[in-house]
Amino acid sequence: MQIDRHKDLEPEELLHEYVQPERPVILTEAAKRWKAIGKWTPEFFQQHYGRITYEISGRSYTLAEQVDLMRRSSTETPAPYPYNLEVADYFPELMNDLAPQLVFGKSDRAMHPLMPRALIHGTPVHEVFFGSKGSSFPFVHYDALELHTQITQIYGEKEFVLFQPSDGRYLYPRADNPKFSQVTDVYDPDLARFPEFHSAQPIHCTLAAGETIFFPRGWWHTTRMSGPSITYGRIVLNSTNYQAYLDDKYERWKKAGLLKAALAYGAGKVVGGAMRVAEAFT
Ligand SMILES: [Fe+2]
Repeated sequence: MQIDRHKDLEPEELLHEYVQPERPVILTEAAKRWKAIGKWTPEFFQQHYGRITYEISGRSYTLAEQVDLMRRSSTETPAPYPYNLEVADYFPELMNDLAPQLVFGKSDRAMHPLMPRALIHGTPVHEVFFGSKGSSFPFVHYDALELHTQITQIYGEKEFVLFQPSDGRYLYPRADNPKFSQVTDVYDPDLARFPEFHSAQPIHCTLAAGETIFFPRGWWHTTRMSGPSITYGRIVLNSTNYQAYLDDKYERWKKAGLLKAALAYGAGKVVGGAMRVAEAFT
């Protein structure tokens, strides 16, 4: 199976052909007009945002350090990863560089004016990832909260390996977290330990700078890089995954107390109904 590639699609076509039927797609030109493409380089972040710090495995790295590590990164000693920062929190002034947003018009609920911030709080919406040669996301997984994902490569290249949701039965989901596979290396899997993996059908694709992939909830994925890489990831919450998002969020809210969880869930249902009405008229 291959992932369809288009230069760009009309919003209605994207919505009806891919977003609503939950099929992945790559858009090669859709983000080409973004100011971020060409501007967001490792040097740019090192120069303007070098003092920002981020902790990985108990150690804090400045962004300037991370960029140095990205330059020296190798398969044997990769730069730490995932080094990911929420754009709206760390670089709010750079949000304009990601315009026009490639979201799906009336179907976008994450940034919908009716969506209370409290219902999305704790869920990164706009993330930027800094990685390099040898860096890879350490687990094959599908994303939390039943969110769809949209990823634009800003600088360098990124390789993806995806598996359709039904391949989950061959991926040995972890007992403690069934959204994560026990198979850590899809390029060289331990088939003695994971014999069923043999039946899974990995789909390989590479994003070059300016290219965007959309993939729906439940699609298993992992990534790796062959050189310095900056990537922008954006969650997609719309009418197709909103109920599942609320259900998953409810499980988290419950940890803060049943009453709070019930109130938040109830508010989510009311807001969902209001958004559905608004969507019908836009
Ligand atoms: Fe992910």
